Amino acid sequence: MSNIVVVGSQWGDEGKGKIVDFLAKDADIIARYQGGDNAGHTIVVGDEKFIFHLIPSGILYPDKKCVIGNGVVLSPKVLFEEIENLRSRGIYVGDNLLISDRTHLIMPYHLLIESYDENKRGTKKIGTTGKGIGPAYMDKAGRLGIRVGDLLDFNAFIEKLDLNLPIKARLLSESDSWIKSMRSAIIEEYKVYSEKIKPFVTDTSLFIYDAVKSGKKIIFESAQGTLLDIDVGTYPYCTSSNSIAGGVCTGLGISPTMIDKVLGVAKAYTTRVGSGPFPTEMPAEMNERIRQKGQEFGATTGRPRRCGWFDAVAVRYSSRINGFSSIAITKLDVLDELDKLNICVGYKYKGKIIDNFPSQLGALDGVEPIYEQVEGWQTDTSNIRDYNDLPKNARKYVEKISQLLELKIDFIAIGPKREQIIEIQ
Ligand code: GDP
Ligand code: IMO
Ligand code: MG
Repeated sequence: MSNIVVVGSQWGDEGKGKIVDFLAKDADIIARYQGGDNAGHTIVVGDEKFIFHLIPSGILYPDKKCVIGNGVVLSPKVLFEEIENLRSRGIYVGDNLLISDRTHLIMPYHLLIESYDENKRGTKKIGTTGKGIGPAYMDKAGRLGIRVGDLLDFNAFIEKLDLNLPIKARLLSESDSWIKSMRSAIIEEYKVYSEKIKPFVTDTSLFIYDAVKSGKKIIFESAQGTLLDIDVGTYPYCTSSNSIAGGVCTGLGISPTMIDKVLGVAKAYTTRVGSGPFPTEMPAEMNERIRQKGQEFGATTGRPRRCGWFDAVAVRYSSRINGFSSIAITKLDVLDELDKLNICVGYKYKGKIIDNFPSQLGALDGVEPIYEQVEGWQTDTSNIRDYNDLPKNARKYVEKISQLLELKIDFIAIGPKREQIIEIQ
């Protein structure tokens, strides 16, 4: 194995956490490069379920290093809650966690700004996770951001806070007394974080560079999915970072030559949380059936996920953008009971067949999916570990996907547990 990027190929929640956890056993370092605690990556080991928001999905292996890169936006509150929670469950978190000093901080006012913006959008709400992600990236791009490194020099932190607060007060139509109380509350809270975060902070770009030079193996863990990427996703119904493989270089401060392989993760169907176009969304009854069977409720917000058929046009687009070397198909077991399944093989737009994913939201909203119907297998697949033991129609289904994507399938997940995976050589 070499240095692998694990990327979501749809609208997030593809099962990246499970795949990263599986690959992590043969790696040395697991690094997050973007997003924040909008992510919810689930790993089930035995009877225990872990949901990671900020900490990379390699932390369950005590001998691996986990890195939070400069491209992440970090809520210290969530970070320390996550660390405490893991420690209380007997998971070691200490010198195995490294945080970039260039990582931007999520501040309490980011959550207020996000809530204000979402309310203003009315019916055109993005349906964000409400974690302050967008406003934190706005400050980063606007060069107003406060970084983890600033916490190490608390005077610098206060200076930057004092620059920000009047600007935020104006944005939120708040008064001088708001500035005063916000200032003292933030100083009190973040002073504690500044002490607690110290042992974890380092130049992670250099750490990864040295590790690669000495032959260490790295998993780059994306959050969200390609269709939620700020540049190539379904803008504006997307997140605020580059979740695609290209984000690894900027989000960790490393060279593209350090990446050997890009593994796409795709659910055997499609889900989406929040608003925005979704060509293959299922009718209400089928939507609910898949939601219940797949337990499609947000790992971060608990919101019901919208469910749809597998969309080969969308995943082919993801494959092109990320340059997938191969793919992992997850949650095949969720389709076990169906007698017929649809696969979207193309779109029709204004009477014409198109096979590219449209860049304009208006067009995507107006496309009509072209389905190919295939027979179901109506057999429980959750205990199968060998590809050849899968029912014939299940093999036909994944082979159809593989053929449409022109990609080899490396893994098929058939349940949430660590061992519920089929590796295809
Ligand atoms: P991530 O954000 O991409 O890591 O995915 P999430 O953890 O948000 O959502 C995936 C959900 O599906 C979690 O509840 C996982 O435990 C679960 N899961 C992952 N793989 C499988 C699978 O193959 N079958 C089933 N039934 N559940 C799975
Ligand atoms: P993981 O890593 C699914 C969605 C939100 C919303 C949009 C913008 O678990 O796959 P944000 O809070 O990022 O500004 O919200 O993006 N979203 C996700 N959907 N999985 C995620 O992460 C997501 N992170 C953000 O629902 O539509
Ligand atoms: Mg998730």
